[in-house]
Amino acid sequence: MNVLGIESSCDETGVALVECAAGGGTPVLRAQALHSQIDMHQAYGGVVPELASRDHIRRVLPLTRKVLADAGSSLDEVDVVAFTQGPGLAGALLVGAGVACALGAALGRPVLGVHHLEGHLLSPFLSADPPELPFVALLVSGGHTQLMRVDDVGSYELLGETIDDAAGEAFDKSAKLMGLGYPGGPALARLAEFGDASVFDLPRPLLHSGTLDFSFAGLKTAVRTRVHKLGSNVCEQDKAHLAAATQQAIVDVLVHKSLAALKETGLRRIVVAGGVGANAWLREQLNAACAKRQVRVHYPEFALCTDNGAMIALAAAMRLQRGLAKVRSDHAFNVLPRWPLVS
Ligand code: KG4
Ligand code: ZN
Repeated sequence: MNVLGIESSCDETGVALVECAAGGGTPVLRAQALHSQIDMHQAYGGVVPELASRDHIRRVLPLTRKVLADAGSSLDEVDVVAFTQGPGLAGALLVGAGVACALGAALGRPVLGVHHLEGHLLSPFLSADPPELPFVALLVSGGHTQLMRVDDVGSYELLGETIDDAAGEAFDKSAKLMGLGYPGGPALARLAEFGDASVFDLPRPLLHSGTLDFSFAGLKTAVRTRVHKLGSNVCEQDKAHLAAATQQAIVDVLVHKSLAALKETGLRRIVVAGGVGANAWLREQLNAACAKRQVRVHYPEFALCTDNGAMIALAAAMRLQRGLAKVRSDHAFNVLPRWPLVS
């Protein structure tokens, strides 16, 4: 069975083709293609939803053609068309949903709406070192920061989540305050390499709250205060110190809460997914902490940390293999811009 996956929830258009055997086995990625809108949104310092939607329209069919050509496949071989149904920007989601349903109708194939976070959560199954179930998942993206217990595909228990900003948002907003580009996370991480995190003392909200919830709004406010104190003539070295201190504060909280979740669940495996999972310092710190405790850490391949079509095709395929998917053959569709993975 071949599943075509379309991701268009934010500022990346992703398309991929995944193949799975009906009897089981992890689905295999046959080809994927991605177009990032970063260059387009950079001038505005953040994602402009209307521009994002229009660009998805331009990209999605050429990307689909490329994926099928790279896989040596054709539309006839597509058995199910999957798309990101939510959460995300409504207009952007509508493009992927509309195209998926139009393709499904034209081909006479069913379509399947996928939860974007489930895509992130399952993306490490496409890596060279896929996790075994059950595991703890740390989902760290631009819009979400959650710790989950994952017992199986579709069987998720929310252990804790952010009560305000997401970890990616903390990176992005702090980077913006420091005058770094968009998206802020990678820019702040690059600058942090030249800084000393101990120069600035920043808060780690809820670190010892005894819960698995997160809060990053206070950290952002503390960064704002430091930026104002440093003034407009701030030297590059101080900026690098502040970037390092910010990254360290975010990473400290993520590592501390991840270890607490492992302790609480008694599980020995953790999966890190979502854009912030690409952060090298987070990986280094978490790997070191988990190695000490004989806990295995799994990440998606670097290219699959941020949004992509492969994770959407994969999540659809894994649900279909387990009989958990509700495919639609009427080709009517809706999108769910706000859609909790666990309610
Ligand atoms: O998962 P994702 O691509 O999109 C959402 O679903 O939100 O995550 C994007 C987030 C952004 O906040 C971006 O700044 C952050 O991931 N990010 C990083 C890094 N790469 C991406 N944050 C820190 N370090 C990175 N290397
Ligand atoms: Zn995402």
